[in-house]
Parts: sequence; structure tokens; C-alpha cells
Amino acid sequence: MSKAVFDLVVISNRLPVDITSTDGGEVSWTRSPGGLVTALDPVMRDADAAWVGWSGAPDLELEPFDADGTFLVPVPLSASEVSEYYEGFSNDTLWPLYHDVIAPPAFHRAWWDVYRRVNARFAEAAAAQAAPGAKVWVHDYQLQLVPALLRQLRPDLEIGFFNHIPFPPYELFQQLPWRRQILDGLLGADVIGFQRPTDAANFRRCVTALTGVKARTEKFTVHEGEGYNRTIQASAFPISIDSKSFSALARKKSVRRRAQEIREELGNPRVVMLGVDRLDYTKGIRHRIKAYGELLEDGRVTPGDCTLVQVASPSRENVEAYQELREHVELLVGRLNGEYGQLGHTAIHYLHHSYPQAEMAALYLAADVMLVTSLRDGMNLVAKEYVAARSDLGGALVLSEFTGAADELTGAIMVNPHDIDGMKEALLDAANMTPDERRRRMLRLRRKVMSNDVTRWSKSFLSTLESLGATNHTASQSVRSAASPLEAPVSPVAGK
Ligand code: F6P
Repeated sequence: MSKAVFDLVVISNRLPVDITSTDGGEVSWTRSPGGLVTALDPVMRDADAAWVGWSGAPDLELEPFDADGTFLVPVPLSASEVSEYYEGFSNDTLWPLYHDVIAPPAFHRAWWDVYRRVNARFAEAAAAQAAPGAKVWVHDYQLQLVPALLRQLRPDLEIGFFNHIPFPPYELFQQLPWRRQILDGLLGADVIGFQRPTDAANFRRCVTALTGVKARTEKFTVHEGEGYNRTIQASAFPISIDSKSFSALARKKSVRRRAQEIREELGNPRVVMLGVDRLDYTKGIRHRIKAYGELLEDGRVTPGDCTLVQVASPSRENVEAYQELREHVELLVGRLNGEYGQLGHTAIHYLHHSYPQAEMAALYLAADVMLVTSLRDGMNLVAKEYVAARSDLGGALVLSEFTGAADELTGAIMVNPHDIDGMKEALLDAANMTPDERRRRMLRLRRKVMSNDVTRWSKSFLSTLESLGATNHTASQSVRSAASPLEAPVSPVAGK
């Protein structure tokens, strides 16, 4: 049986583990490599915390279990819920809508019904685990209805929500048939965090335009009835990585040796360019390959001198837009390799796999130029990992203006991925940059990445939640005691 006494409950679509077997009721798992998992790992390690999420497999009912000191509470999803809530509404409606409609969002009423039902299940699971007055931190676009559902079930909780992906401008969000319900869901939180100030501003504009709540500043109030006005903060908390651990990993002898090996395996070219992405249409992989292909065609790069390694990890493979993207990318890579590759000199090394962190760190060390060319990206933690890995102050980062990371990583060579000519010049500038210039830029990048790490991010979010939660709690208690003066205010936090 699970205990309902956790002071911190994290809720995300996926649990931070991949289940490898459930033989005899015993769960075997491995830590999963996703961005959110890496980001929250240090927060969870020592806290009295539970993590509520889906196991990643359809139709799998599991009891809560302990994983390296974190109490994990699996929320089951049937195969049809995976199809309609996860692949459908989350990744074929919200994902494209929130990423500038790069792909057309599909609006299906049946998907919306399942999204609502699954959000309610997550809210109930979290409500059952949270101690009185606990903090609950809800993550990402798959669970936007959870804050309000949870507040209905447990008004004593301090509820935070963090959106890992962009929040769209009003003119796009307006398309969503269920726009009002999504905003009402989010407004159940005390703190609503976004990656960039522009995302927070987009959200506040949508709230002001569509709900009647005036959300013109970072802090605004919603009327909760009986004269109680709850304060909400909607602002930017740019996420980061565990920079010190990543930097230390990349300094390991074994990783540095592997980086050398990788360069040798690639035929020791003068320049190694690298792209590392989930195979997602938001990442600008086609634009990047197009620019690189034109440089090959123009003869401004040659396969013996320069090579591009593209790691494209499999993602959301049942969604049609992702299947089409894979076909396009693989066709493009095949065509360019056929046209420009030579025996022993491949133009583009395309790897449709995920790799462990140590191999990623070795790839970053082996790469002279890192290409992050997203068309829209909440943050992009790959850019930050590359910087953290380069304590040797080598390597050049080419970074899209359309990533959250662009706000902070101003030492990068900035590109507009839609401007293919501009991107070709940026690729060449990065390839031919002097060691002094690389050092100067990398120092600037590292100052940001090494100090703004994930611990700072989570502390900043959770301390904002704590102080706003306390303000709101005091406000609601004073309204209650004014309504019935004989009743003394009672803290909802047992034993605190
Ligand atoms: O960046 C958004 C996000 O949903 C992350 O939370 C997650 O790690 C990543 O995309 C991969 O998504 P999925 O869980 O759909 O594979």
C-alpha cells in the first residue's frame, strides 16, 4: 500500500524510469534518459517525494514502487488512451499548435474527451499521495487540466505547473476548440512557469482575452468566491541541466578516449559537425541537412575534410507527422550520401538510435561544431549539454534564434533556420573559427550554463511556489475567519 504523506509530489506524463520487466510482480527498471528526468533527478534525490506518471507501456497495471529512493506511483493507460490522449491530443493537437503550427494540429472531440479523463486520473493519483499542505509540481502540456482538478480535490495544496514547451501566441492558441478549458485548468495553479518571458506573456494575453481574468502583469488575481482572491504568478523559469555532473562526465578519461576513437572512426576529418535531436519536425533537421547538402553541392565543404554526424533518436513513431519526417530525412541523407560520399568518406553519418549519456558526452567532445537549428523549441537542453561538456573551451555552437536557450546562450552563432543561405554561412564560420574566438565564445557560454543549473531552476520555482502558496493560504484563512469569527485559522499542514 502507498502512504499519503509526501511533502512534494511531482506529476509528469512519464515516470522517470523505463520498466524492463514485471516478472512475478517484481518491477525491474532503468533510469530513462529524457530531459525532464535529468532535470528533476537532483530535486527528487533527497526530498520526501513521490513521482506520479505513466510507465510508458499500454495496459500495464503496477503497484507503487521505490526506485533509488524515489516513490513512484504508476498511472495506467489503456492502449486506446495511449493512442488518443498521448499520441492524439498531446502530440498531434497540442504539440504542433504550441510549436507555431509547423505541422497542422488535428482537432478531434474524441481525443479531447480522453485527454480530460486521463488528466482526472493523474489528479486523483496525486491527491492520494500528497500530505496536507504539500507542494505538487505538475509538468508539461500533457497535463494542463491537472492543476484545477487537483485544487477541487485538495484545496489545501500548493500547486505549481511548469510548461516545458513554448506557449503559443494568442492568434494560434485561439484555434483550439477547448482553449477556455485549458486556461481554466492551468489557472488552478499558484505558480505557472514557462521557459521564456515571451511564453509567459503569450499565456497572460490568452488569459486576459479569453477568460475575463486580467492577467496584465506577472502576478494577478483570480476570484475564488466568498470574497477570496487567489494570487497567481505566471512567469519565466528557464530550465537547465545538471551542469557540474555533465561537465565532470565529459572530463573522464574514458570519455575523452572515446571522443578520440570517434574522430578516428570518422576518418579524422578536419571538421566534425554534430546534430543531436529527437526525430521531431520542430528540430529543423531537414533545414540543417539542406544547408549542409548545398555546401557539398557548392564544393564549399568536401566529405574528406568535413563530416556531419546526425543522431536522431526515435520518437512518437505512431504519429503520422513523425513517420513522414523520418521518410523525408532518410531520403535526403541517402541522396546526399549517394551523390557526395566517397569510399571511406561518408558525407552524413545518420544514427537513428538513443545513446547513453557517456557516449553523448564523447560525441560532444568529438564535435568541432554543434548544430541546434530548431524551428521552435521550448529550451533545448542539448545546446546546454554541449557547452557543459566543453571545459576544454573548444567547439563552436550554432544555435537557432527560435530556441529558449537563445535568450541565455548569446555567445553562440545565432541562426534563423528558415534562412538557408544564412545558415550555410554560419556553418562555415563555425567550421573555420579560430581557436581564440572559440575559446572566447565558449567561456561566455560556460559562464551561463555552469551557474544557471537545474538545481537553481528547481529551487527558484519551488521557493516561489512556497511563498505564493503561503500568501494564498493566509488570504483564504482570513476570509474564512472573517466569515465565521469564532473559528480560529488552522494550518492545513499537519505537524508544521
Ligand atoms: O520536451 C517535451 C517532452 O514532452 C519532454 O517532457 C520529454 O522528455 C520529451 O518531450 C519526449 O517526449 P515523449 O515523452 O513524448 O517521448
